Amino acid sequence: MDSLSIPYAICLLLLLTICVCANGNSNSFNVLSYGASGDGRTDDSSAFSKAWSDTCKATSNPTLVIPQGKQFLVRQTIFAGPCKSSTIQVQLSGTILAPDGPDQWKSTDLSTWLAFQGVNGLRIYGKGTMDGRGKGWWDRSCKYHPGQKGCITLAPTSLKFFNCNDIKMKDISFHNSPQIHVLLLGTQNVDLGFLNIQSPGTSPNTDGIHLQFATNVSIHDSNIAAGDDCVSIGDKTFNINITDINCGPGHGVSIGSLGMGGVSAQVENINVKRVNFRETTNGARIKTWQTGRGIVQGVTFSNLNFTAVENPIIIDQYYCYRPSACKQTKTGVHIRTVSYSELIGTSKTEVAINLNCSNVVPCTGITLDNIRLASATREIGQLTSSCNHAYGVNRGTVQPESCL
Ligand SMILES: *[C@@H]1O[C@H](CO)[C@@H](O)[C@H](O)[C@H]1NC(C)=O
Ligand SMILES: *[C@@H]1O[C@H](CO)[C@@H](O)[C@H](O)[C@H]1NC(C)=O
Ligand SMILES: *[C@@H]1O[C@H](CO)[C@@H](O)[C@H](O)[C@H]1NC(C)=O
Ligand SMILES: *[C@@H]1O[C@H](CO)[C@@H](O)[C@H](O)[C@H]1NC(C)=O
Repeated sequence: MDSLSIPYAICLLLLLTICVCANGNSNSFNVLSYGASGDGRTDDSSAFSKAWSDTCKATSNPTLVIPQGKQFLVRQTIFAGPCKSSTIQVQLSGTILAPDGPDQWKSTDLSTWLAFQGVNGLRIYGKGTMDGRGKGWWDRSCKYHPGQKGCITLAPTSLKFFNCNDIKMKDISFHNSPQIHVLLLGTQNVDLGFLNIQSPGTSPNTDGIHLQFATNVSIHDSNIAAGDDCVSIGDKTFNINITDINCGPGHGVSIGSLGMGGVSAQVENINVKRVNFRETTNGARIKTWQTGRGIVQGVTFSNLNFTAVENPIIIDQYYCYRPSACKQTKTGVHIRTVSYSELIGTSKTEVAINLNCSNVVPCTGITLDNIRLASATREIGQLTSSCNHAYGVNRGTVQPESCL
């Protein structure tokens, strides 16, 4: 009996271990188990697609694992939902590499590198990196080679959330996107925190985060140094909080451009708070096309710190980069209830507060409240403010002296 019970016990133990292990992993889908090599050269796209497909089909709280210490070359991939489970986790600990520039890009669709589409309850975390390897795209950008045959106007967005709901993403780094780093499109209830977005100051059209058709979005505790806007807020956006961000180099935080080609804009309840702007071309900016209609309202810019910013506070309702579309019209986007409070720092240009509003639909309900701006360099003298069709009130100290 004794001689039998020992192997029996071992067998039982083994069975138990297998059961426990299998159970512990049954909801974890590691791309390595789907054949990804992670050597940075082999195309791992199909492993990612298969791993996602199983993750999305799993029932209770599954996790797609992209492990640490590896580099995965992944081509354009759409991670589509809806998924079975009400929450889906993506543990991104390794690095995902995009095809290296336009010559390596095989898809005919140039708009997006990786996208989540129609996915709800997504949680992305894990200190991993998405490296867009944008240099090859930037080098051929039409912005730097205007009119040149074969120059590039559209390059891939690194990560797009399209028609998603209830998204949280934290601790992820984004480097060198060919164009926009993170795009929220038709997506609501989003929390993006502790992100690190880095591209050279000179890279073209590489917005950090762009929102359009987005509601209930919080972007917080992040470093964004992209060549273009740190955060840009497009049309049909509501309830957006942008807090505790280091922004720069780049173009600042921008609402717009809105109203291009006669579009009726609607942007409401946007709060930008505790942002440090360092050597950006703009700080708090709202820009609209003269041809636009609609409304921007309920915007607060508070507790901002500008360091050597070219246009710390700017409303430009004459925005235009396509001369044929810049005709004087009888319309304008109405900008109302915008408040600027507790703003400090230095300006690189003389007109530190520039409220250049529509001559057809003036800005109303503007508040300037406790603003202290000084010259960034000795070359510029006294700072000034400029109002064109802008109306509202002043509170506390306003330096330079308010034009309202
Ligand atoms: C935005 O958040 C509010 C408050 O939590 C919620 O009532 C509303 O449904 C959300 N909007 C969308 C479009 O999900
Ligand atoms: C934005 O901040 C306000 C005030 O703290 C808060 O009530 C609101 O829920 C926040 N909205 C989002 C989408 O985080
Ligand atoms: C504003 O930023 C400058 C430059 O980083 C820093 O020296 C200063 O302490 C900041 N001011 C506040 C109030 O945080
Ligand atoms: C306001 O916009 C008009 C039209 O673009 C421009 O000519 C003018 O210089 C701007 N004013 C300021 C103070 O920037």
